Amino acid sequence: MEDYGRFLALLASALLVGFVSVILSLVWVFHYREGLSWDGGPGEFNWHPVLVVTGFVFMQGIAIIVYRLPWTWKCSKLLMKFIHAGLNTIAMILAIVSMVAVFEFHNAKNIPNMYSLHSWIGLTAVIFYSLQLFLGFAVFLLPFAPVHLRAVLMPIHVYSGLTIFATVIATALMGITEKLIFSLKNPAYSASPPEANLVNCLGLLLVIFGSLILWMASRPHWKRPPNLSYLKSYRNPLRKMYHLN
Ligand code: HEM
Ligand code: HEM
Repeated sequence: MEDYGRFLALLASALLVGFVSVILSLVWVFHYREGLSWDGGPGEFNWHPVLVVTGFVFMQGIAIIVYRLPWTWKCSKLLMKFIHAGLNTIAMILAIVSMVAVFEFHNAKNIPNMYSLHSWIGLTAVIFYSLQLFLGFAVFLLPFAPVHLRAVLMPIHVYSGLTIFATVIATALMGITEKLIFSLKNPAYSASPPEANLVNCLGLLLVIFGSLILWMASRPHWKRPPNLSYLKSYRNPLRKMYHLN
């Protein structure tokens, strides 16, 4: 692999930044807010940021770059597809649970649903993400789609995947800002209390994590070579083509 050292440095930075983001979201809800619970109260709302940061941002980011880890290039493409699809499925489940938490909290407190730009963009991202997941399974994992259809759809899959990922990060930043404005009253957000600074740092880390993932996923020379493992494991060139995309 070209620039192996640089790839490793970026990967280690992304893992560190992503991991610290998850920890900061936990510190936020446990140290400054009401912790986690499932009773229609603020503790139920708190699952929302924790699960989206862990699943929808961190896990999705790892799922996106998993094909690019050079030590996996000797593994079969099918195995890597299971890992990529599996991580994205877990991220989807966590995103859905996080949405249930915020809707239940709103309903329990008689707060209107779906009024903010954050909620509109967020729900749109979740809908497109589930479509992407469904089409990914149908086209690239199940053995029905012809090779030429896979080839036509792959650039769209990559483009929409990266766009959804960037949109999820933008949604998280809107949600963080809203939550701080709603809940910091005395002292207010504008007085920069420690909670505000901590959570602003979380937002900054999410942007850095997103930038690192998008950079790694958009370098053509770090892409998984097309058919390395199939050259070794398949004799028939048609079967070799079969899992190409
Ligand atoms: C990144 C993925 C995220 C998605 C897809 C998302 C999605 C949503 C949706 C659909 C709602 C509407 C719920 C309802 O109307 O009952 C909502 C509400 C809310 N979310 Fe998020 N959210 C995300 C991240 C975050 C984060 C990180 C925070 C930070 C605390 C947050 C804070 C809020 C707040 C305060 C509300 C209630 C106010 C409102 O409806 O805008 N969100 N979110
Ligand atoms: C919402 C879920 C998904 C998202 C956000 C997503 C996103 C992406 C992205 C951004 C890439 C480009 C990675 C790269 O260039 O290295 C990619 C590649 C790929 N995805 Fe997905 N994907 C999803 C679900 C799936 C599913 C369910 C499958 C089925 C196995 C799948 C199969 C593939 C394949 C075969 C590649 C090409 C890997 C390569 O370049 O060697 N994806 N995906």
